[in-house]
Amino acid sequence: MKIFIGIGLILLVLSVRGENEVCKTDKEGFKICRKPTTVITHVTRRMGSAVDAKTHFDMKFDDDTIIGPNAFHTLPLTSILLGMPYTQERNRLALRTLTLHPDSFLTSSNIRSLTIIRANVNLPGNKFNLNTAVEWLRFIACGFTEVPSEMIESLPNLDYLSFEGNYLRVIRSHAFSPLKLLRELNLEGNGIVSLELGCFDGLDNLEVLDLADNQFSPISGIFNGLKKLTRLDIDNAFGEHQFNFDILQDTPALVNIRMGNNKIKELKPDMFSICPQLTYLSLFRNNISSVPKGVFNTMNSLQTVHLAQNEIGTIEPGAFNGLNMNMIYLLDNKVDKVIETGTFSDLSVLDINLSASNIRELKPRAFNGLSARELDLSENKFTQIGAEDFYGLKVEELRLKNNNITAIAPNAFKNTKVEKLRLFGNPIDDKDRAIWGLPETTKILWSEY
Ligand SMILES: *[C@@H]1O[C@H](CO)[C@@H](O)[C@H](O)[C@H]1NC(C)=O
Ligand SMILES: *[C@@H]1O[C@H](CO)[C@@H](O)[C@H](O)[C@H]1NC(C)=O
Ligand SMILES: *[C@@H]1O[C@H](CO)[C@@H](O)[C@H](O)[C@H]1NC(C)=O
Repeated sequence: MKIFIGIGLILLVLSVRGENEVCKTDKEGFKICRKPTTVITHVTRRMGSAVDAKTHFDMKFDDDTIIGPNAFHTLPLTSILLGMPYTQERNRLALRTLTLHPDSFLTSSNIRSLTIIRANVNLPGNKFNLNTAVEWLRFIACGFTEVPSEMIESLPNLDYLSFEGNYLRVIRSHAFSPLKLLRELNLEGNGIVSLELGCFDGLDNLEVLDLADNQFSPISGIFNGLKKLTRLDIDNAFGEHQFNFDILQDTPALVNIRMGNNKIKELKPDMFSICPQLTYLSLFRNNISSVPKGVFNTMNSLQTVHLAQNEIGTIEPGAFNGLNMNMIYLLDNKVDKVIETGTFSDLSVLDINLSASNIRELKPRAFNGLSARELDLSENKFTQIGAEDFYGLKVEELRLKNNNITAIAPNAFKNTKVEKLRLFGNPIDDKDRAIWGLPETTKILWSEY
């Protein structure tokens, strides 16, 4: 098959040799010369044009296109983008072929960034000239079904590589092993069904790995060797497979992990202790039903935890004990619940969002020991505020929008520090404000925002 394509290409090149070039100047001022419609032989600039100083070149094509050798060599480019026009449709058969030459991107200025969008990329011989200086290589929504190992081996200086939205299905053992300097790899949205053990071998310097929107089986050991990995995105990565926490054993340096949409059901004490530097943890849209103690409160570096859109019906008091955080997202957990006494004790956080979470009842001193800028309890289902519900809470803004609150007990806020109280959307007014125990300085906000 490869040989056939190669011969086809030679015939095509031969057939146009000798025919006149057609040159057009684009709106940016680049002069693009083609032999009949498909072969870009060279791109130059008009003397004195605005393009003189431009270091980025961007070309759209809507038919099969060949980039000849040294096509850009007279320009001071550092970055090139070649692509078919954007459409939302994802159809591999509709992609046109972009044929490159080993010397296509050789320039004196060193093209460091190459982005190809929506094309079947064909590189006869499979290797770029070793002097090609590309460090950031992105094949976005292209037609790759396999990692082109020989091609990337010819670019040993790669720092960032993306195959976002291609059609890779299996990542073979050692697929990227020549890329000793690679720092960031994006394999998002391919429908990968298998990561073979050892597929990341050799990526000793990898810091960022995006595997979101795939469907591979999370077998223990797949991240073996990724000792420097700090960011991992495995949102919706496993299709129908069950998540396996053992895969995190090999990534002890993680700081930031996204693992939303993975049907995770249960949080277990110390399950994240193998990643002691985690500061950002997203468990968005899983099927977690309770937050026990011992999971988050032992994570000393934790700044943000995303638990929105789960099925959380219980939060064990002390689950966030001792933490000093930025954000806790607990919104949209549509399971009826009661917030127990002391649930958020000894917690300091900028924003904590418990809106739209079917909270039916607040137990006395539920928020005792919580210090926050904003506590959002909007769109819940409690209908009154008892004498000690907010005892011991310190907050700049307490949002209680749309809760159908009909009564606030006398002195309910006597032991609460609150600067703004948002009561929009409750069938209550402030004629009894004097008995709620609020200082004069507290503002009551009756507007939605
Ligand atoms: C898990 O959560 C998803 C998204 O919220 C939901 O669509 C799905 O029905 C849940 N699955 C189970 C097994 O509860
Ligand atoms: C809490 O989440 C809701 C829903 O996304 C949002 O509208 C609201 O602004 C958030 N609250 C805060 C304090 O950020
Ligand atoms: C609000 O509460 C009142 C009385 O407690 C009840 O009759 C009404 O149905 C509630 N409204 C909503 C939208 O839940």
